[in-house]
Amino acid sequence: MVVTRIDKSQLKVGMFVEALEGAWQDNPKLGRRFTVRSGQEIDIILNSNISAVFINTALGRDISSSYHPSGCRNITTATKQDKFETARKIHGHAAEARSLIEDVCLGRTITMEAFTPLVSDVARTMEENPSLYIGMSRLRFRDSATFVHSLAVAALLLHFGRSMHMDDETIEHLCMAGILHDIGKLTIPKQVLQKQGPLNAAERKLIEQHPERGYELLSSHLSMPKLVLDICRSHHERLDGKGYPDRLGAEQISVEVRMSTICDVFDALTSTRPYKKGWSSQQALSWMMCREDQFDKTLLWQFILSLDPEMTKGIL
Ligand SMILES: [Fe+2]
Repeated sequence: MVVTRIDKSQLKVGMFVEALEGAWQDNPKLGRRFTVRSGQEIDIILNSNISAVFINTALGRDISSSYHPSGCRNITTATKQDKFETARKIHGHAAEARSLIEDVCLGRTITMEAFTPLVSDVARTMEENPSLYIGMSRLRFRDSATFVHSLAVAALLLHFGRSMHMDDETIEHLCMAGILHDIGKLTIPKQVLQKQGPLNAAERKLIEQHPERGYELLSSHLSMPKLVLDICRSHHERLDGKGYPDRLGAEQISVEVRMSTICDVFDALTSTRPYKKGWSSQQALSWMMCREDQFDKTLLWQFILSLDPEMTKGIL
């Protein structure tokens, strides 16, 4: 563990605070040890009686460097060559995801163990080249868009969960939820799902049934983790209560579901589809930051930090 003492005026977003020197009572918002996520949190410390801060540079940003969550490389640093070399892996993973999703769809008995090899593969690929699942949008084929999207969301959730220092089981379940979250779409007629151009009211209503349909499908598997069921049903809910299918309020939406919404929308915005060019990561995140009360802003900052702290400069 690398702990450095700094003056509180040197504190920056992305630093991990191990301890504070001086008169300080644990702040309920920040906790005892925490990652600094916003200017507001820095203000709390600047306006307190503490004199210095001990930061852990193994878990967060150093004074002069960018923040790299443990085990995660900067996601935007991969070269074209990196992407080319690993593109083949995506196809393999997407095929695996497809087969798992179809098994669940057909009602075949499926267990967490069945997902373990794919989750491990995704985890390994993310360690080798975390940018892979952002660049992958260009490799999509029309008929496999749902599978590739599901895989991308799984990888982003895995990366996000790790950056939040979540436990291994939760991270595994997040990854599994990413793979299965849109499974209900497989019950929607293709001509509606793949329609290019605006949807009419009836078509939109049909597509908006996919979280419930997916939830029902997954619920028939008795060993399905609750987290996977929650994310499948609620990944289109919004903090402002305007989501679907249950129009949940913010207090009813768990951290993990909020994380899944961020990854889902981020991948959708950055994806290239036959009818639209994908946005850059920065464009997508800037747009998401501007959406009033749709996303959890604290988590969105954490997500941005987990991708590339340098991106915060263009978004601030
Ligand atoms: Fe969805």
